[in-house]
Amino acid sequence: MEPNFTNGLINQLRGRSIFLIGMMGSGKSATGPILAEILKYKYVDLDVLIEKLTKKTIHEIFIEEGEEYFRALETQCLQEIIKFPSTVVSTGGGVVLKKENWGFLRQGIVVWLDINQEVVIKRLVQSKDDSRPLLKGKNVEIMYQEIFEIRKDIYAQADLRVEIKNEGMRNIAEKILRDLKEKIKD
Ligand code: S3P
Repeated sequence: MEPNFTNGLINQLRGRSIFLIGMMGSGKSATGPILAEILKYKYVDLDVLIEKLTKKTIHEIFIEEGEEYFRALETQCLQEIIKFPSTVVSTGGGVVLKKENWGFLRQGIVVWLDINQEVVIKRLVQSKDDSRPLLKGKNVEIMYQEIFEIRKDIYAQADLRVEIKNEGMRNIAEKILRDLKEKIKD
């Protein structure tokens, strides 16, 4: 990207963190590091942080401790992360479910990666990723739609919604930055 563009955006952001939200498979973890690199921001993947702290995989946490325990960890970690400015955070798809979490997310700029359903379902069906216990052993398409139905209005409360189809990750990251610049220009 043009240095003038990125420097301008960095100035406009004034250190505000960016939280990527959206459904499983929407590309939060893949685009987050690219955004951070371009903006010279720090980068945190919330699921990875939880795995590091607990020394367990997301799958193990769900199986051994249950979803509620995982959600509590998610909130605790989020609460710590917001203490650091200039950070891009890739969240887990369910972080939006707790009202309390929005108090933390709102301290930065919340960006919804609104991925095309057909594209994401195909991706999730093919995925060998073990970090999605909510889909494991289920009909991915039905489960995905059920979960999205519950969450779509909550995702829509983001500051910025970026529609995504099959673009490459760098293109998505650049699209996010262009939309972000437009959004916060005043
Ligand atoms: C979840 C999404 C996962 C992970 C956990 C729960 C969800 O993260 O946090 O399996 O509730 O949507 P990704 O969105 O990165 O797949």
